[in-house]
Amino acid sequence: MRVAVVGKGGSGKTTTSAIVARTMARHGATVVALDCDSNPNLGLSLGVGDFETERLESMRESLDEGGEEHAPGWDDLIARFGSDAPDGVRLAVVSRIDNPSPG
Ligand SMILES: Nc1ncnc2c1ncn2[C@@H]1O[C@H](COP(=O)(O)OP(=O)(O)OP(=O)(O)O)[C@@H](O)[C@H]1O
Ligand SMILES: [Mg+2]
Repeated sequence: MRVAVVGKGGSGKTTTSAIVARTMARHGATVVALDCDSNPNLGLSLGVGDFETERLESMRESLDEGGEEHAPGWDDLIARFGSDAPDGVRLAVVSRIDNPSPG
């Protein structure tokens, strides 16, 4: 299942995303949370802390500035750009997806 959370600024997207992600993980689902926000602070709501939230954001900045290669596939993306959050959620701050393959 894939869930996308969108909405107006300040409407509760980040808070809702974190609660849904952690609740599903606590119930046994494998959960990967992808933060696509221009101001990515899902890490704070998920509970990875300030330092890790900023580290993930700076990795995306490095990607966008060409300092790092985009991940060629899902497994690589999660391994290289992901971070373990409480309740077993895996979080990644992601950039534009180039050439998405089916699935
Ligand atoms: N269900 C709720 N009830 C009351 N307050 C809430 C609820 N959900 C979120 N909030 C509060 O509303 C504010 C905005 O929430 P949040 O940051 O999740 O919104 P957002 O849509 O992600 O904002 P942004 O557009 O800035 O990314 C926060 O202070 C949050 O604590
Ligand atoms: Mg938000």
